[in-house]
Amino acid sequence: MKEISPKAMEKIEALIKRYPVKRSALLEVLHIVQQEWGYIDQEGEETVAEILDLEPVRVHEVVSFYTMYERKPVGKHIIRVCRNLTCTLMGAESLISYLKRKLKVDEGGTTSDGRFTLQTVECLGACEIAPVMQVDGEFYGNLTPEKIDRILEEMK
Ligand code: FES
Repeated sequence: MKEISPKAMEKIEALIKRYPVKRSALLEVLHIVQQEWGYIDQEGEETVAEILDLEPVRVHEVVSFYTMYERKPVGKHIIRVCRNLTCTLMGAESLISYLKRKLKVDEGGTTSDGRFTLQTVECLGACEIAPVMQVDGEFYGNLTPEKIDRILEEMK
């Protein structure tokens, strides 16, 4: 079982009490443990399964379905660039190429200094400001290479 801090365990226990069945807390428990560990690997899935009395495969299905859960270590800042239809029509592919060159990483990769992880995702639900990316959950739209430079510069 992977170690969980007493503080995180306290949050998990309080959360579980709010649901009629333990398993209903799964998504939120995964958020808590991701904050704790930074990502959820197989051992993490097994730990969550044990806490919620679930089969590990059930936890794995959820972790691998949602892009918001990280399955391996990531950088300090996570950049998620939308490459769905509207964003693609508005130039997302060239922005992804720009980011790959700028950060010297491939999709899914983390910069050598551990600052940024670059991911591509499906529609972020902000098509009206395409092309769009999220950095640490914050939305940035109408992107251009210059705007990306400014955004990333502010994160240093
Ligand atoms: S297509 Fe990119 S936010 Fe919807």
